[in-house]
Amino acid sequence: MAKINSNYQKLQAGYLFPEIGRRVRAFSQQNPEAKIIRLGIGDVVLPLPNPIIQAMKLGADELAQRGTFKGYGPEQGYDFLLAAIAEHYRSQGASVEADEVFVSDGSKCDTANIQEIFALDNTIAVTDPVYPVYVDTNVMAGRTGMSDGKGRYAGLTYLPTTVENKFEPALPEIPVDIVYLCSPNNPTGAVMSRANLQKWVDWAKKNEAIILFDAAYEAFIQEPGHVHSIFELPGAREVAIEFRSFSKTAGFTGTRCAYTVVPKELMARNDKGEKVAIHSLWMRRQTTKFNGVSYPIQKAAAAVFSIEGKAAIEENISYTMENARLIREGLSSLGFSVNGGVNAPYIWLETPGKMDSWAFFDQLLNQCHVVGTPGSGFGSCGQGYFRISAFGFRENVEAAIERIRTQLKL
Ligand SMILES: Cc1ncc(COP(=O)(O)O)c(C=O)c1O
Repeated sequence: MAKINSNYQKLQAGYLFPEIGRRVRAFSQQNPEAKIIRLGIGDVVLPLPNPIIQAMKLGADELAQRGTFKGYGPEQGYDFLLAAIAEHYRSQGASVEADEVFVSDGSKCDTANIQEIFALDNTIAVTDPVYPVYVDTNVMAGRTGMSDGKGRYAGLTYLPTTVENKFEPALPEIPVDIVYLCSPNNPTGAVMSRANLQKWVDWAKKNEAIILFDAAYEAFIQEPGHVHSIFELPGAREVAIEFRSFSKTAGFTGTRCAYTVVPKELMARNDKGEKVAIHSLWMRRQTTKFNGVSYPIQKAAAAVFSIEGKAAIEENISYTMENARLIREGLSSLGFSVNGGVNAPYIWLETPGKMDSWAFFDQLLNQCHVVGTPGSGFGSCGQGYFRISAFGFRENVEAAIERIRTQLKL
Protein backbone atom coordinates (compact mmCIF):
# COMPACT_ATOMS: atom_id res chain seq x y z
CA MET A 1 0.00 0.00 0.00
CA ALA A 2 1.18 3.52 -0.74
CA LYS A 3 2.56 5.51 2.20
CA ILE A 4 1.71 9.07 3.14
CA ASN A 5 4.10 11.88 4.03
CA SER A 6 3.81 11.27 7.76
CA ASN A 7 4.93 14.82 8.55
CA TYR A 8 1.33 15.79 7.74
CA GLN A 9 0.27 13.86 10.82
CA LYS A 10 2.34 16.18 12.98
CA LEU A 11 0.16 19.12 11.96
CA GLN A 12 -2.14 20.34 14.67
CA ALA A 13 -5.79 19.61 14.01
CA GLY A 14 -7.58 22.08 11.78
CA TYR A 15 -6.15 25.20 10.32
CA LEU A 16 -7.37 28.21 12.27
CA PHE A 17 -9.95 29.51 9.81
CA PRO A 18 -11.77 26.20 9.22
CA GLU A 19 -12.24 25.96 13.01
CA ILE A 20 -13.63 29.51 13.09
CA GLY A 21 -15.92 28.57 10.19
CA ARG A 22 -17.11 25.48 12.05
CA ARG A 23 -17.99 27.46 15.20
CA VAL A 24 -19.73 30.21 13.23
CA ARG A 25 -21.77 27.65 11.25
CA ALA A 26 -22.83 25.87 14.44
CA PHE A 27 -23.87 29.21 15.98
CA SER A 28 -25.82 30.23 12.84
CA GLN A 29 -27.69 26.95 12.76
CA GLN A 30 -28.82 27.47 16.34
CA ASN A 31 -29.48 31.19 15.84
CA PRO A 32 -30.68 31.58 12.25
CA GLU A 33 -31.98 35.12 12.90
CA ALA A 34 -28.60 36.44 14.14
CA LYS A 35 -26.90 38.92 11.78
CA ILE A 36 -23.26 37.96 12.06
CA ILE A 37 -20.55 40.56 11.40
CA ARG A 38 -17.33 38.96 10.20
CA LEU A 39 -14.10 40.73 11.07
CA GLY A 40 -12.16 37.51 11.30
CA ILE A 41 -10.49 36.12 8.21
CA GLY A 42 -9.32 39.47 6.84
CA ASP A 43 -10.76 39.28 3.36
CA VAL A 44 -11.34 42.43 1.31
CA VAL A 45 -14.92 43.55 0.67
CA LEU A 46 -14.61 46.56 -1.65
CA PRO A 47 -15.11 45.84 -5.36
CA LEU A 48 -12.17 46.08 -7.75
CA PRO A 49 -11.75 49.72 -8.85
CA ASN A 50 -12.72 50.71 -12.38
CA PRO A 51 -9.22 51.28 -13.87
CA ILE A 52 -8.28 47.75 -12.80
CA ILE A 53 -11.45 46.11 -14.09
CA GLN A 54 -11.11 48.00 -17.40
CA ALA A 55 -7.56 46.68 -17.82
CA MET A 56 -8.74 43.17 -17.02
CA LYS A 57 -11.53 43.45 -19.62
CA LEU A 58 -9.15 44.76 -22.28
CA GLY A 59 -6.85 41.83 -21.50
CA ALA A 60 -9.74 39.42 -21.92
CA ASP A 61 -10.73 41.11 -25.23
CA GLU A 62 -7.22 40.56 -26.57
CA LEU A 63 -7.65 36.84 -25.94
CA ALA A 64 -10.73 36.91 -28.20
CA GLN A 65 -8.76 38.02 -31.29
CA ARG A 66 -6.50 35.92 -33.52
CA GLY A 67 -3.81 38.60 -33.64
CA THR A 68 -3.56 39.12 -29.89
CA PHE A 69 -4.54 35.75 -28.46
CA LYS A 70 -2.09 34.34 -25.90
CA GLY A 71 -1.52 30.83 -24.65
CA TYR A 72 1.12 29.99 -22.07
CA GLY A 73 2.88 33.11 -20.86
CA PRO A 74 6.33 33.42 -19.31
CA GLU A 75 6.31 31.57 -15.95
CA GLN A 76 7.98 34.53 -14.26
CA GLY A 77 5.39 37.05 -15.49
CA TYR A 78 4.91 39.29 -18.53
CA ASP A 79 7.57 41.96 -19.09
CA PHE A 80 5.07 44.82 -18.79
CA LEU A 81 4.18 43.77 -15.22
CA LEU A 82 7.77 42.99 -14.18
CA ALA A 83 8.85 46.43 -15.40
CA ALA A 84 5.98 48.17 -13.57
CA ILE A 85 6.86 46.36 -10.32
CA ALA A 86 10.58 47.21 -10.61
CA GLU A 87 9.66 50.85 -11.27
CA HIS A 88 7.39 50.87 -8.21
CA TYR A 89 10.29 49.57 -6.09
CA ARG A 90 12.52 52.34 -7.43
CA SER A 91 9.88 54.92 -6.48
CA GLN A 92 10.04 53.52 -2.94
CA GLY A 93 13.83 53.86 -2.79
CA ALA A 94 14.57 50.15 -3.22
CA SER A 95 16.75 48.82 -6.01
CA VAL A 96 15.10 45.85 -7.68
CA GLU A 97 15.57 44.79 -11.31
CA ALA A 98 12.67 43.51 -13.42
CA ASP A 99 14.36 40.11 -13.87
CA GLU A 100 14.54 39.66 -10.10
CA VAL A 101 10.73 39.74 -9.85
CA PHE A 102 8.67 36.53 -10.00
CA VAL A 103 4.93 37.05 -10.49
CA SER A 104 2.74 34.40 -8.92
CA ASP A 105 -0.82 33.58 -7.94
CA GLY A 106 -0.32 34.49 -4.29
CA SER A 107 2.02 35.17 -1.43
CA LYS A 108 0.50 32.25 0.44
CA CYS A 109 1.90 29.89 -2.21
CA ASP A 110 5.21 31.75 -2.44
CA THR A 111 5.87 31.89 1.30
CA ALA A 112 4.81 28.24 1.45
CA ASN A 113 6.85 27.03 -1.52
CA ILE A 114 10.08 28.94 -0.95
CA GLN A 115 11.28 26.56 1.79
CA GLU A 116 11.58 23.65 -0.66
CA ILE A 117 14.67 25.11 -2.32
CA PHE A 118 16.49 25.02 1.05
CA ALA A 119 18.02 21.96 2.72
CA LEU A 120 15.99 20.11 5.31
CA ASP A 121 18.66 20.56 7.96
CA ASN A 122 18.45 24.36 7.94
CA THR A 123 17.40 25.78 11.28
CA ILE A 124 14.32 27.99 11.02
CA ALA A 125 13.09 30.88 13.17
CA VAL A 126 9.61 32.34 13.19
CA THR A 127 7.98 34.96 15.35
CA ASP A 128 5.35 33.95 17.87
CA PRO A 129 2.56 34.84 17.02
CA VAL A 130 3.06 34.06 13.33
CA TYR A 131 1.24 33.76 10.00
CA PRO A 132 0.63 29.97 10.24
CA VAL A 133 1.70 29.17 6.66
CA TYR A 134 5.42 29.63 7.46
CA VAL A 135 5.24 27.06 10.25
CA ASP A 136 2.93 24.48 8.70
CA THR A 137 4.89 24.26 5.46
CA ASN A 138 8.10 23.57 7.38
CA VAL A 139 6.26 20.90 9.38
CA MET A 140 5.04 19.31 6.13
CA ALA A 141 8.59 19.35 4.76
CA GLY A 142 9.89 17.53 7.83
CA ARG A 143 11.96 20.30 9.43
CA THR A 144 10.29 19.92 12.82
CA GLY A 145 9.50 17.38 15.48
CA MET A 146 6.11 17.04 17.12
CA SER A 147 3.94 19.85 18.41
CA ASP A 148 3.64 20.49 22.14
CA GLY A 149 -0.14 20.88 21.74
CA LYS A 150 0.07 24.62 22.44
CA GLY A 151 1.15 25.60 18.96
CA ARG A 152 4.92 25.08 19.17
CA TYR A 153 6.87 22.45 17.23
CA ALA A 154 10.14 20.91 18.38
CA GLY A 155 13.06 22.03 16.24
CA LEU A 156 11.73 25.49 15.33
CA THR A 157 13.11 28.63 17.00
CA TYR A 158 10.34 30.92 18.21
CA LEU A 159 10.88 34.64 18.65
CA PRO A 160 8.20 36.05 20.96
CA THR A 161 6.59 39.31 19.91
CA THR A 162 4.48 40.68 22.72
CA VAL A 163 3.52 43.97 24.35
CA GLU A 164 6.73 43.72 26.41
CA ASN A 165 9.03 44.02 23.36
CA LYS A 166 6.60 46.26 21.45
CA PHE A 167 6.05 43.36 19.03
CA GLU A 168 9.60 43.71 17.65
CA PRO A 169 11.35 40.32 17.38
CA ALA A 170 14.76 40.21 19.06
CA LEU A 171 17.71 38.58 17.30
CA PRO A 172 17.91 34.83 18.03
CA GLU A 173 20.19 33.68 20.83
CA ILE A 174 21.03 30.43 19.06
CA PRO A 175 22.27 29.95 15.47
CA VAL A 176 19.52 30.15 12.85
CA ASP A 177 19.85 29.75 9.06
CA ILE A 178 16.51 31.10 7.86
CA VAL A 179 14.11 33.53 9.51
CA TYR A 180 10.62 34.61 8.47
CA LEU A 181 9.82 38.25 9.24
CA CYS A 182 6.52 39.91 8.43
CA SER A 183 6.14 43.69 8.54
CA PRO A 184 3.58 45.24 8.77
CA ASN A 185 2.65 42.21 10.76
CA ASN A 186 -0.20 39.79 10.54
CA PRO A 187 -1.54 39.30 13.18
CA THR A 188 -0.09 41.94 15.57
CA GLY A 189 -0.50 44.92 13.22
CA ALA A 190 2.96 46.14 14.29
CA VAL A 191 5.52 47.54 11.88
CA MET A 192 9.21 46.81 12.48
CA SER A 193 11.33 49.89 13.03
CA ARG A 194 13.94 50.72 10.42
CA ALA A 195 16.70 50.40 13.03
CA ASN A 196 15.56 46.97 14.16
CA LEU A 197 15.19 45.66 10.62
CA GLN A 198 18.68 46.94 9.81
CA LYS A 199 19.95 44.97 12.83
CA TRP A 200 18.37 41.86 11.33
CA VAL A 201 19.99 42.51 7.95
CA ASP A 202 23.40 42.99 9.59
CA TRP A 203 22.90 39.85 11.69
CA ALA A 204 21.95 37.83 8.60
CA LYS A 205 25.01 39.06 6.74
CA LYS A 206 27.33 38.20 9.62
CA ASN A 207 25.77 34.74 10.10
CA GLU A 208 25.19 33.84 6.43
CA ALA A 209 21.48 33.57 7.22
CA ILE A 210 18.54 34.38 4.95
CA ILE A 211 15.57 36.61 5.81
CA LEU A 212 12.25 35.72 4.19
CA PHE A 213 10.55 39.10 4.38
CA ASP A 214 6.78 39.13 3.98
CA ALA A 215 5.66 42.63 2.99
CA ALA A 216 2.10 41.68 2.00
CA TYR A 217 0.78 44.70 3.92
CA GLU A 218 3.39 47.35 3.05
CA ALA A 219 0.83 49.48 1.20
CA PHE A 220 -1.07 49.98 4.46
CA ILE A 221 1.78 51.88 6.14
CA GLN A 222 0.46 55.34 6.94
CA GLU A 223 3.23 56.95 8.98
CA PRO A 224 6.23 58.32 7.09
CA GLY A 225 9.71 56.90 7.61
CA HIS A 226 8.83 53.21 7.92
CA VAL A 227 10.42 50.58 5.72
CA HIS A 228 8.16 49.46 2.84
CA SER A 229 10.74 47.15 1.29
CA ILE A 230 13.63 45.42 3.00
CA PHE A 231 15.64 46.34 -0.12
CA GLU A 232 15.65 49.97 1.03
CA LEU A 233 18.22 48.85 3.61
CA PRO A 234 21.96 48.58 2.91
CA GLY A 235 23.10 44.96 2.64
CA ALA A 236 19.58 43.50 2.26
CA ARG A 237 20.08 42.39 -1.34
CA GLU A 238 22.66 39.86 -0.11
CA VAL A 239 20.45 38.35 2.60
CA ALA A 240 16.74 38.69 1.81
CA ILE A 241 13.84 37.53 -0.31
CA GLU A 242 10.73 39.73 -0.29
CA PHE A 243 7.12 38.71 -0.82
CA ARG A 244 4.37 41.12 -1.82
CA SER A 245 0.78 40.63 -2.85
CA PHE A 246 -1.96 42.44 -4.75
CA SER A 247 -4.49 40.65 -2.52
CA LYS A 248 -5.11 43.13 0.27
CA THR A 249 -3.37 46.06 -1.44
CA ALA A 250 -5.63 46.08 -4.47
CA GLY A 251 -8.52 43.70 -3.74
CA PHE A 252 -7.10 40.63 -5.54
CA THR A 253 -7.84 38.00 -2.86
CA GLY A 254 -10.19 36.23 -5.28
CA THR A 255 -8.48 37.30 -8.49
CA ARG A 256 -5.01 36.11 -7.33
CA CYS A 257 -1.76 37.88 -8.13
CA ALA A 258 1.40 38.45 -6.11
CA TYR A 259 5.17 38.67 -6.58
CA THR A 260 8.40 37.62 -4.98
CA VAL A 261 11.75 39.36 -5.37
CA VAL A 262 14.93 37.28 -5.31
CA PRO A 263 18.00 39.50 -5.74
CA LYS A 264 20.83 38.09 -7.84
CA GLU A 265 23.35 38.69 -5.04
CA LEU A 266 21.56 36.30 -2.67
CA MET A 267 23.59 33.12 -2.12
CA ALA A 268 23.44 29.99 0.02
CA ARG A 269 25.83 27.05 0.21
CA ASN A 270 25.53 23.57 -1.32
CA ASP A 271 26.72 20.31 0.31
CA LYS A 272 30.26 21.01 -0.85
CA GLY A 273 30.26 24.44 0.80
CA GLU A 274 30.14 26.27 -2.56
CA LYS A 275 27.98 29.37 -2.94
CA VAL A 276 24.91 28.98 -5.17
CA ALA A 277 22.61 31.77 -6.40
CA ILE A 278 19.11 31.44 -4.93
CA HIS A 279 17.70 33.33 -7.93
CA SER A 280 18.55 30.49 -10.32
CA LEU A 281 17.10 27.87 -7.97
CA TRP A 282 13.81 29.74 -7.60
CA MET A 283 13.69 30.26 -11.38
CA ARG A 284 14.19 26.52 -11.83
CA ARG A 285 11.50 25.72 -9.28
CA GLN A 286 8.96 28.11 -10.76
CA THR A 287 9.55 27.08 -14.37
CA THR A 288 9.11 23.44 -13.39
CA LYS A 289 6.11 23.70 -11.10
CA PHE A 290 4.26 26.88 -12.09
CA ASN A 291 2.82 28.05 -15.39
CA GLY A 292 2.22 31.72 -14.73
CA VAL A 293 -0.70 33.98 -13.89
CA SER A 294 -3.34 34.53 -16.57
CA TYR A 295 -2.86 37.44 -18.98
CA PRO A 296 -6.00 39.48 -18.07
CA ILE A 297 -5.06 39.26 -14.37
CA GLN A 298 -1.51 40.47 -15.07
CA LYS A 299 -2.97 43.33 -17.13
CA ALA A 300 -5.21 44.19 -14.17
CA ALA A 301 -2.22 44.00 -11.80
CA ALA A 302 -0.17 46.34 -14.00
CA ALA A 303 -3.06 48.85 -13.89
CA VAL A 304 -2.55 49.05 -10.10
CA PHE A 305 0.61 51.07 -10.89
CA SER A 306 -1.08 53.48 -13.33
CA ILE A 307 -1.95 57.00 -12.12
CA GLU A 308 -5.67 56.18 -12.00
CA GLY A 309 -5.03 52.74 -10.48
CA LYS A 310 -2.83 54.17 -7.73
CA ALA A 311 -5.45 56.80 -6.84
CA ALA A 312 -8.22 54.18 -6.66
CA ILE A 313 -6.11 51.83 -4.53
CA GLU A 314 -5.17 54.64 -2.16
CA GLU A 315 -8.83 55.47 -1.70
CA ASN A 316 -9.65 51.87 -0.78
CA ILE A 317 -6.68 51.63 1.58
CA SER A 318 -7.76 54.88 3.27
CA TYR A 319 -11.24 53.44 3.71
CA THR A 320 -9.82 50.33 5.39
CA MET A 321 -7.45 52.33 7.57
CA GLU A 322 -10.31 54.60 8.66
CA ASN A 323 -12.10 51.40 9.73
CA ALA A 324 -8.92 50.47 11.62
CA ARG A 325 -8.95 53.84 13.38
CA LEU A 326 -12.62 53.45 14.34
CA ILE A 327 -11.99 49.97 15.75
CA ARG A 328 -8.83 51.02 17.59
CA GLU A 329 -10.31 54.15 19.11
CA GLY A 330 -13.74 52.59 19.72
CA LEU A 331 -12.32 49.62 21.61
CA SER A 332 -9.79 51.73 23.41
CA SER A 333 -12.56 54.02 24.71
CA LEU A 334 -14.29 50.89 26.07
CA GLY A 335 -11.19 50.10 28.12
CA PHE A 336 -9.56 47.50 25.85
CA SER A 337 -5.78 47.56 25.39
CA VAL A 338 -5.31 47.75 21.64
CA ASN A 339 -2.23 47.43 19.42
CA GLY A 340 -1.72 47.74 15.68
CA GLY A 341 -4.23 49.32 13.34
CA VAL A 342 -2.03 52.35 12.57
CA ASN A 343 0.19 50.98 9.79
CA ALA A 344 -1.63 47.69 9.25
CA PRO A 345 -5.23 46.63 8.75
CA TYR A 346 -5.24 44.48 11.91
CA ILE A 347 -6.05 45.43 15.48
CA TRP A 348 -4.47 43.15 18.07
CA LEU A 349 -6.29 43.56 21.32
CA GLU A 350 -5.53 42.10 24.68
CA THR A 351 -8.46 40.03 25.94
CA PRO A 352 -9.98 41.41 29.14
CA GLY A 353 -8.09 39.96 32.12
CA LYS A 354 -5.98 38.00 29.62
CA MET A 355 -8.88 35.55 29.23
CA ASP A 356 -8.43 32.58 26.90
CA SER A 357 -8.56 33.70 23.26
CA TRP A 358 -11.12 31.07 22.17
CA ALA A 359 -13.30 31.82 25.22
CA PHE A 360 -13.31 35.49 24.15
CA PHE A 361 -14.11 34.42 20.56
CA ASP A 362 -17.13 32.42 21.77
CA GLN A 363 -18.32 35.24 24.00
CA LEU A 364 -18.05 37.82 21.22
CA LEU A 365 -19.89 35.50 18.82
CA ASN A 366 -22.62 34.53 21.26
CA GLN A 367 -23.30 37.94 22.80
CA CYS A 368 -22.48 40.36 19.95
CA HIS A 369 -22.62 38.11 16.86
CA VAL A 370 -19.22 39.48 15.90
CA VAL A 371 -16.47 37.21 14.54
CA GLY A 372 -12.79 37.90 15.12
CA THR A 373 -9.75 35.65 15.27
CA PRO A 374 -8.41 34.12 18.49
CA GLY A 375 -4.79 35.17 18.99
CA SER A 376 -3.80 31.71 20.24
CA GLY A 377 -4.42 30.41 16.71
CA PHE A 378 -1.27 32.29 15.65
CA GLY A 379 0.98 30.80 18.32
CA SER A 380 1.32 30.38 22.04
CA CYS A 381 2.33 34.03 22.59
CA GLY A 382 -0.99 34.96 20.96
CA GLN A 383 -2.85 33.46 23.92
CA GLY A 384 -4.73 36.29 25.65
CA TYR A 385 -4.88 38.31 22.43
CA PHE A 386 -7.52 38.67 19.75
CA ARG A 387 -7.25 39.92 16.15
CA ILE A 388 -9.88 42.14 14.56
CA SER A 389 -9.59 42.82 10.87
CA ALA A 390 -10.34 46.28 9.47
CA PHE A 391 -11.46 44.83 6.13
CA GLY A 392 -15.21 45.30 6.14
CA PHE A 393 -17.95 47.73 5.22
CA ARG A 394 -18.01 50.87 7.38
CA GLU A 395 -21.55 50.21 8.59
CA ASN A 396 -20.54 46.75 9.82
CA VAL A 397 -17.46 48.07 11.59
CA GLU A 398 -19.57 50.73 13.32
CA ALA A 399 -22.28 48.22 14.21
CA ALA A 400 -19.69 45.78 15.60
CA ILE A 401 -18.23 48.42 17.91
CA GLU A 402 -21.70 49.47 19.04
CA ARG A 403 -22.65 45.86 19.77
CA ILE A 404 -19.45 45.33 21.75
CA ARG A 405 -20.25 48.50 23.70
CA THR A 406 -23.82 47.55 24.50
CA GLN A 407 -23.97 43.75 24.48
CA LEU A 408 -20.66 42.34 25.67
CA LYS A 409 -20.95 41.16 29.27
CA LEU A 410 -17.65 39.88 30.54
C1 LIG B 1 1.22 37.84 6.17
C2 LIG B 1 0.55 37.32 4.96
N1 LIG B 1 1.29 36.87 3.96
C3 LIG B 1 0.74 36.36 2.85
C4 LIG B 1 -0.63 36.30 2.71
C5 LIG B 1 -1.21 35.63 1.50
O1 LIG B 1 -1.67 36.47 0.56
P1 LIG B 1 -2.13 35.96 -0.86
O2 LIG B 1 -3.58 36.26 -0.96
O3 LIG B 1 -1.29 36.73 -1.83
O4 LIG B 1 -1.88 34.50 -1.00
C6 LIG B 1 -1.45 36.77 3.72
C7 LIG B 1 -2.90 36.70 3.57
O5 LIG B 1 -3.67 36.70 4.46
C8 LIG B 1 -0.85 37.28 4.88
O6 LIG B 1 -1.58 37.72 5.89
